[in-house]
Amino acid sequence: MSEGYQFIETGISEQIGMITLNRPHVLNALNRTMIFEILSVMESYDRDDNVRVIVLNGKGRAFAAGADIDEMANASSIDLEMLNQFADWDRLAWIKKPIIGAVHGFALGGAFELALCCDLLLAAEGAEFGFPEVNLGIMPGAGGTQRLTKLVGKTKAMEWLFTGKRISSREALKYGLINQIVAPELLIEETVKLARQIALQPPLSIRLIKESVLKAVDYPLYEGMQFERKNFYLLFSSEDQKEGMKAFQEKRKPDFKGR
Ligand code: CAA
Repeated sequence: MSEGYQFIETGISEQIGMITLNRPHVLNALNRTMIFEILSVMESYDRDDNVRVIVLNGKGRAFAAGADIDEMANASSIDLEMLNQFADWDRLAWIKKPIIGAVHGFALGGAFELALCCDLLLAAEGAEFGFPEVNLGIMPGAGGTQRLTKLVGKTKAMEWLFTGKRISSREALKYGLINQIVAPELLIEETVKLARQIALQPPLSIRLIKESVLKAVDYPLYEGMQFERKNFYLLFSSEDQKEGMKAFQEKRKPDFKGR
């Protein structure tokens, strides 16, 4: 499946769709083609019944060091407006299957934004996050100021965005930006272990849970609860709901089919 992709490696194994950023000589700096490739594969995984969970990681010594500065350095505002490159990033928010990010080394700038779009994040000990855009005379543009602030609140977000300082994985864990810190040599193993655990769950439940949790970020409580309720009712039309409850009553393991 990796054939044809210039800047990523892909592959499906045990219902896990892998995407590995692959420009290690520039710390996986995210150029426009790479983002396009990531989104194309994510969307194809989203439609593929053989994939239940998507894992995103980076090759070499970092997850990624941000957007490709060389690609942007001479751009004008009009160039960026006409390219509308962040429209591709918006498509990330429409991926229905769970995305787990595995971060090591750096996740800076656009790469931190990419990590913040993941549903779950594991970080290798020593990994560093941050928004250094301010040091370049710019600011985050792919959702960073919004997603970070919603996660950690205004005060900490301002500090990190104003200073551009690096956030250690310990600090990221403390502020709820990541789920777990693991030893660097176990990063992929632990990420795949978590992905496998989620892949065994009923896919329709996972899909509607993801959708409902994401609504909690945008909707007022009551509207969010109405959305959640409809999804709850909807699951009672699935075979997996019947199987899950029957298996409980028969004291056996359920076999979920995603229908
Ligand atoms: N864009 C282009 N090239 C990059 C890059 C980037 N974001 N980050 C690293 N590279 C390249 C370096 O130029 C270098 O290439 P050469 O070997 O050809 O010189 C190579 O990757 C290795 O990098 P370093 O030698 O700098 O490695 P280091 O270990 O000394 O430092 C680092 C690592 C601290 C991450 C440093 O590379 C760095 O500060 N990178 C830039 C981080 C940054 O500012 N990111 C934000 C980009 S803007 C953005 O992301 C906004 C947006 O969303 C649109």
